[in-house]
Amino acid sequence: MRRMIIDCDPGHDDAIALVLAHRHARVAGITTVSGNVPLAATTANALLITAMLGVDTPVHAGAARPLAGEPQHAPHVHGESGLGDVTRMAHDRAAAGDDAVGFLLDAAAPDVWVVALGPLTNVALAIERDPDWVKRIAGISLMGGSADVGNVTPVAEFNAYADPEAADRVFRSGARVTMCGLNLTHQVMTTDAVVARLRAAATPAANFAGEIFDDLHGRLERLTGFREAALHDPCAVLAVTHPELIESSPRAVSVERDGTLTRGMTVVDQRRGLRGDPANANVAYRIDAEQALQVVMESLDAGTESLGVGTMAP
Ligand code: RIB
Ligand code: CA
Repeated sequence: MRRMIIDCDPGHDDAIALVLAHRHARVAGITTVSGNVPLAATTANALLITAMLGVDTPVHAGAARPLAGEPQHAPHVHGESGLGDVTRMAHDRAAAGDDAVGFLLDAAAPDVWVVALGPLTNVALAIERDPDWVKRIAGISLMGGSADVGNVTPVAEFNAYADPEAADRVFRSGARVTMCGLNLTHQVMTTDAVVARLRAAATPAANFAGEIFDDLHGRLERLTGFREAALHDPCAVLAVTHPELIESSPRAVSVERDGTLTRGMTVVDQRRGLRGDPANANVAYRIDAEQALQVVMESLDAGTESLGVGTMAP
């Protein structure tokens, strides 16, 4: 099993990614960052998830604000709690510390992947504190950016938009980066069939995940008119645990920081032949969505029978 540190901003899809990671990898630690909701809430949610899983994975709190600008949150998608109205089991867990960057630096090892599921503030701060850190880890698999549409703006994805300076620092760091952007994650859309399967499984993880998806589908239906959700963050975990499910290509990726309309956009150089800057990331373009959902459902104790999976309509 591969070893990883999950940097996250739970967040409904972060929660599913954390369950998936604990089933298919050795999770050395969780670091939390301000993103979907403020840091105190993302940290509380990470602790709740470790309690629900019954694992002793340490949780280290990190950055409460981006490198520049004001914190960006998404309560319209994730609720004020970050996990909507899902049931919160009682537990007495506390964060192991509030120096996520120090933990990222200390836990570095050649076989450790950093899986970044939120704004890249903690990861960028680790790189600023020790630029050679990127050479001491296996790589960074991140859910962020997009090679086509955005979500927070027509062209910017939330994690990159919430801290463009951090995203720019990571893409320029020389790290081995796998970018799982919206162009990939929109290929794996969950529907109420997933919720029904999870409810039927009736295990603690399945019940928790069923509430997560049901809550998220309801919120997105009210926001978009579509009762479905993209499996964003689990894709970045699968890129490490099940790389055979994802096809990627080396690309030069830059992050727009100044544009009025384009701040937070990941500019992916997809020109054939003509090449500008050298490639600095493996950009994921295709995923075996059926198999990916099957792996996720199996990790949630919900069996492996095919569910059928949609892709986000253009
Ligand atoms: O744009 C999707 C990303 O932003 C996901 O990581 C989701 O959890 C939010 O953080
Ligand atoms: Ca996230």
